[in-house]
Amino acid sequence: MLSHSFLYRKFAGMTAPCFLITLIFFVSSCSEPNEPVSSSYLVEIPDPFVQNKLLAKTINLGNALEAPNEGDWGVVLKGVYFEKIKEVGFTAVRIPVRWSAHTSAEFPFIIDPVLMERVGWALDQAEKNSLAAIINIHHYEEIFSDPLKEKEKFLALWKQIAEKFINRPTTLFYELLNEPHDQLDAELWNNFLDEAIDTIRAIDSTHTLIIGTAEWGSISAMNKLILPQEEKNSIFTFHYYSPFQFTHQGAEWVDGSNAWLGTSWNGFQSEKEVISLDFLKVKTWARQHNVPVLLGEFGAYSKADMESRIRWTQYVARSAEQDSFSWAYWEFALGFGIYDPDINTWREPLLEALIH
Ligand code: GLC
Repeated sequence: MLSHSFLYRKFAGMTAPCFLITLIFFVSSCSEPNEPVSSSYLVEIPDPFVQNKLLAKTINLGNALEAPNEGDWGVVLKGVYFEKIKEVGFTAVRIPVRWSAHTSAEFPFIIDPVLMERVGWALDQAEKNSLAAIINIHHYEEIFSDPLKEKEKFLALWKQIAEKFINRPTTLFYELLNEPHDQLDAELWNNFLDEAIDTIRAIDSTHTLIIGTAEWGSISAMNKLILPQEEKNSIFTFHYYSPFQFTHQGAEWVDGSNAWLGTSWNGFQSEKEVISLDFLKVKTWARQHNVPVLLGEFGAYSKADMESRIRWTQYVARSAEQDSFSWAYWEFALGFGIYDPDINTWREPLLEALIH
C-alpha cells in the first residue's frame, strides 16, 4: 500500500505546529501575510466519521448513468430532481456510473468526455443544492467474469476520475466498485481494492473513499474483507436486501422471483430480529476495525405490497440510524422509486418511512 508519505513530503519544510494546524485549517494561516498560497498546500484530510454524517440520508439516483446509456432504462437526470431531493431532507445523492462502457478500446482507456462532463454536471447540481455526492463504478460486468483481464482498465478508470475531480470539495466521495461478485471473489477483491486505493491516493489524498464487500456487497463477505491499514480516510459500505424473497419479488432481473410474489413483511418480532442481528454483526465488525458504516443500498421492489414496503423500509432505516450507520435508499425514480417522475410527485408514505 502507498502511504501518505507524499503528503508529508509536501510539508517537509514546515514546523510541526504549522503542519498540525494545516491538517485542520488551510495553510494560509501559517504563511507570511503577503505570501501567495499555492493550491497544492490546501490539503486537509477529513475525519471519515465526520464525513459519514454528510451521507446520513442518501438517495440512490439509480438507473440513469449506470444504464448502458443514460435514458435506456427510462431515467434521465434533471437539475430539478436535486432541488426536490434537498427540499425534502435528504443530505446526499449516490450516483452510480457505468464508466466501463464509455472508454476507448485500448490502454489508457480514455473515458468519453461526454460522460465525464455529464457526471461533472451531476456533481455541480449536488453542490449547488448542498448535497454530498458519491460516485462509483457500477455495472462493470466484464470485471466480474474476467477480473485479471480487466484490472488495468479498472485502475485506469480511477486514475482518470481522480484526476478530473481532484479539486471538487470533500463532499464528494469515491466508492471503488459496486457489488463485486462471481470471479471477482473476496480474496481477489482485497488485492484489487488495494491497488485502486494506491491509484487514487497517488493523485488525491483528501476525498473520502467508500469500500464495500465482495459477494454482491453483502454481509456474508465482511469477514473476508481486508481494509488497507494505512488508509484512514474511508467508510465501510454494505448492501441490504433481506429477506431477498420479499425485497426482490417479481424482479425481472432475478430468475424465479415471480414465485415469490405475494411475500409480505409484517414487522413481526421474529422478522425484526433477523435484521437487528445482521446489523449487530456489522456494527461489531466496524467497531473492531474502527471504521464508519454506510448502508449503501436497501429497498423493496414495487411488486411487493406497499404496506409491507413501508414497514420494512422504516424498520431498516431506523435500525441503521440507531447504529449510527448512514444510509442510501435504492432508489429514486424507477422500480423501487420513492418519486413518480410521470406526475412529478413523491410517493409520500415511502418518503415518510425514510425521512421522518
Ligand atoms: C444493485 C444492482 C442494481 C439493482 C439493485 C437492486 O445495485 O446493480 O441494478 O437494481 O442492486 O437489485
